[in-house]
Amino acid sequence: MDKIKIIGGNSLFGKVYISGAKNTALPIICASLLTDEPVTIKNIPFLSDIKSLNSLLLQLGTDIVEKQEILNGHNTQTITYHTPKPTSLIAPYDYVRKMRASYYVLGPLLAKYGHVELSLPGGCAIGARPMDIHLSSLEQMGANIEIKNGYVVADIKGRLQGARISFHSASVGATCNILMAATLAQGTTVIENAAKEPEIGDLIDMLITMGAYIEGKNTSTLTIHGVEKLHGVTHQIINDRIEAGSYAVAAAMTHGRLELVNANAEHLQTPLDILRKTGVNVEITPNSIIVDAQNAELKGVDIYTDYYPGFPTDLQAQFMALMCVSQGAALVTESIWENRFMHVPELMRMGANINVHGHASAIVRGVEKLSAAPVMSTDLRASFALILAGLVAEGETIVNRVYHLDRGYETLEEKFKAVGANIERIKESD
Ligand code: EPZ
Repeated sequence: MDKIKIIGGNSLFGKVYISGAKNTALPIICASLLTDEPVTIKNIPFLSDIKSLNSLLLQLGTDIVEKQEILNGHNTQTITYHTPKPTSLIAPYDYVRKMRASYYVLGPLLAKYGHVELSLPGGCAIGARPMDIHLSSLEQMGANIEIKNGYVVADIKGRLQGARISFHSASVGATCNILMAATLAQGTTVIENAAKEPEIGDLIDMLITMGAYIEGKNTSTLTIHGVEKLHGVTHQIINDRIEAGSYAVAAAMTHGRLELVNANAEHLQTPLDILRKTGVNVEITPNSIIVDAQNAELKGVDIYTDYYPGFPTDLQAQFMALMCVSQGAALVTESIWENRFMHVPELMRMGANINVHGHASAIVRGVEKLSAAPVMSTDLRASFALILAGLVAEGETIVNRVYHLDRGYETLEEKFKAVGANIERIKESD
């Protein structure tokens, strides 16, 4: 497995081009299954999660044509997905195990073809990750669902039926799945307590262009009037707010100045407010966010993760790394995932002062300096937090299990090197 070596101490200056959003691309790629016409998606990031999903779609019988395109100064992928007739309606264990978001094929395949078999993804490092909302909602829409040999087997005679559904949690995944399914249902579906993340707004925009009738974008009540057929579309996905937020923290921690080109500040209001409270200067331009921490005396600020527009759980680990080197104490509370503090013991090995209380809270008391160490990460965002710690630690940090980063951060070493970090990938074979 590849590793990343970082020698800490450099302040970062320059531009970071923010890529297309991974968590938008994944449902949007699966939405292409709702039509037998070609769907072209622009601004798809080069990530291993995208490759994994593409291999699942290939196995379902989708034709995939990839090309590279420069968009707003940044190299991107434009991919056309065309599924005139699927050759399989099964999402096997080997695909879903590698990437949970494979479950986004559930709603589209069931709505369009009346049958789907999806391996249950199971839990993962950050928590149990149940699918009860996805499944009970489809049942309320008339689907017959059974769990057999670790698979969800879902059937519907004729079309799914519109229903009034109330989610017990504002789940991003369930909102996307049920939204996609409802576009082809007979009658009207209302989703109450829907998630409002920008990724969902982007999916709604694309579905509407495909011919869907959806009301309530950016609110917690979505009304979908089902149609018989959706058609092909060309859609450009939004940029990755979590990647932008992650590099914003890199600027802050290294007392540098980064311009996050193509980042959308509207999607990051709560994290940018926290950053300002730590003492960092944040400037918004029409096409970028400038984070300037050259003269900042960083101060600890409390963080509470919550559903959008609250503070995103996917930035909790990175902001915790920031609090490790900020003056005073910060209370970090994780309310979305039950086990998302795995970065804590690794940060402590680098000299951080953190006390975890139960599963949900941690007090971080800022220290003057972190010191380098070999560290190991357990998920994507925790890995980035360790890179951040390495950037300011004294000495050489080695971050192991880099495959986590490759799932969600495009060309990470190149982006960091371009702004002055001393960072390199050690290939397994080196
Ligand atoms: C998405 O996961 C993201 N993944 C996650 O990002 C992110 O952390 C999460 O949303 C929250 O923002 C993708 O978009 C691919 P949820 P998802 O369903 O959809 C509970 C990353 O680092 N719940 O919104 O799986 C669940 O236990 C990843 O990029 C149920 O109880 O998350 C959790 O407490 C990690 N039953 C809460 O809802 C269900 O059926 C939110 O989960 C579904 C969810």
